[in-house]
Amino acid sequence: MTSPLNPAFAATEPPPVMEARRWITGKTFPSDRPLINVSQAAPVESPPLALRQAIAEAALNDPDAHLYGPVLGLPALRAEIAAQWSASYGGSIRPEQVAITQGCNQAFTAALATLAGPGDEVILPTPWYFNHKMWLDMASVTTVPLDTGASLIPDAAACAALITSRTRAIVLVSPNNPGGVEYPAEILSAFRDIARTHGLALIVDETYRDFDSRHSIEIGGRPHDLFADPAWGDTLIQLYSFSKAYRLTGHRVGAMVASEARLAEVEKFLDTVAICPASWARSRPCGGCATSGNGWQANATRSSPAAAPWPTASRN
Ligand SMILES: Cc1ncc(COP(=O)(O)O)c(C=O)c1O
Repeated sequence: MTSPLNPAFAATEPPPVMEARRWITGKTFPSDRPLINVSQAAPVESPPLALRQAIAEAALNDPDAHLYGPVLGLPALRAEIAAQWSASYGGSIRPEQVAITQGCNQAFTAALATLAGPGDEVILPTPWYFNHKMWLDMASVTTVPLDTGASLIPDAAACAALITSRTRAIVLVSPNNPGGVEYPAEILSAFRDIARTHGLALIVDETYRDFDSRHSIEIGGRPHDLFADPAWGDTLIQLYSFSKAYRLTGHRVGAMVASEARLAEVEKFLDTVAICPASWARSRPCGGCATSGNGWQANATRSSPAAAPWPTASRN
């Protein structure tokens, strides 16, 4: 390459999932010794029929499904998430505090782009989700590792000791990828308190929320009390993915729950990189996507507490 390369990109690792795929390109595996891919737990079956029908219906009959739409997503879907999250987390979340994104990864990059620039620091517990580190590297933001020891549960006091004048955010993933652990509610509250005391953002990536043993449509319950705090919006940014529970990895639908002020900044980022979420996620039928009991959630992919299905590494 002769044209310039941003040194931050040169220093960033290549996408590991693509690299792993290249290892087996051109290789054949005999039927008595097939390759069993245990590196990813991405749902590979199609979404439930009812959801596929709704997607097809939108493509065929909803003219809006083919047009640019609101940058922060379809109002009906934002309202549905706000209502469901308020009920399931025991808090108050308004539709204006929800943004629909092209996947949780985009939600993460959008949130971080509004929070931290070159030379700033963000604390990530180890082992981290590789795309979080890759974004921070490409944005020239310094990743500060927080060792989680053998338990894989991060310690808030240890985190506090890492905070400097350049720290902008703490990122937690629960249930965790790659660790698989569910962070106890009191741990999450302790991190919220530390973030608030230091004026930082606490980002909680809940991509695997629907697989959390403490939360499900069937048993109710909640994995944490962060949204029960009336002032949650001053500190908390929650990220969500439709990829796993709805088997929609290829459709790229995620969400961010944050203060309206934060989302006003996020809107600048999303407008510039994507303009709006993927078309079907903005179509009218998708307004009911998060509605429980419509058969759209891929129950077959969900876990029991004893059998957490997320992977031990990689995007999944
Ligand atoms: C922790 C975490 N966040 C985000 C993602 C990506 O989610 P999405 O497909 O919604 O971009 C993944 C897995 O792919 C993940 O493990």
